[in-house]
Amino acid sequence: MDRSDYEALDAGAVAAALGDLAGAFSVVLLAECDSTNTRLLADLPPDDGRVHVLAADVQTSGRGRRGRVWQSWPGASLTFSALWRFAPGSPVPAGLSLVAGLAVARALEDLGVEGVQLKWPNDVLVHGRKLAGILVELTPGRGRTPAAVVGIGINLHLPPDAEVEYATGVTDLADSLGCAPGPSELLGRVLVQLHRLFEVYAAAGFSALRGAWQQRNAFADLPVSISGEAEALSGICAGVDEDGALLLNTADGLRRVLSGEVSLRLA
Ligand code: BTN
Repeated sequence: MDRSDYEALDAGAVAAALGDLAGAFSVVLLAECDSTNTRLLADLPPDDGRVHVLAADVQTSGRGRRGRVWQSWPGASLTFSALWRFAPGSPVPAGLSLVAGLAVARALEDLGVEGVQLKWPNDVLVHGRKLAGILVELTPGRGRTPAAVVGIGINLHLPPDAEVEYATGVTDLADSLGCAPGPSELLGRVLVQLHRLFEVYAAAGFSALRGAWQQRNAFADLPVSISGEAEALSGICAGVDEDGALLLNTADGLRRVLSGEVSLRLA
């Protein structure tokens, strides 16, 4: 596939998409880096009140959850990380990664993408196939201010022969919309949603966003299995609780799941 004509990230177009919020962000754009999460964690920017964002056209060592790889080809996906800081002394809250997924979902819906769903804790699916992945990594930050690096990858236009290791299969925006939006516009739109939702979250906690998350729950009331943790579990997905933990109706009663990989249990 000829990818020499892909659209590179552009600072002016990102600022235009951020609109009134442009001043709230510091956005650094790179043609290439190993991983935007790795870079941001390794070199934490000073706390100047802005949200620091690092985006790259291509990552050479993109990382996913649970040790997976986020593969990268020129023009194939939007890849970026944003550093979110919290009030000094406060613990970094557990529902953050779900809120990030919801922000991506809202940005996609605003663009007209149909069939957007969330797979706990934070995959974004379209008609059942993975369109975006999120890797949240915590850092003590500088001083006493805890921080989270929120890394997001959104498929724009995958090569047809892309081999990607997700049970759901994958999709991209070119498929969902007929054509992919420019990466800069998409970046700005997702950052605006992150800003809005993280403000709600900081003020009112995950419970204020729980309903919106559950409306998009890909596995609501369906039989699922949890793997990847010491104890394998299965049951009916009963949504998420006020902290963002997954609720599972099992043969032994209602269980809260804090980590693991959820998959649909086929009859
Ligand atoms: C997953 O689906 O397992 C999470 C994928 C997260 C990928 C993004 S791309 C930008 C940021 N940098 C990384 O190395 N990973 C995240």
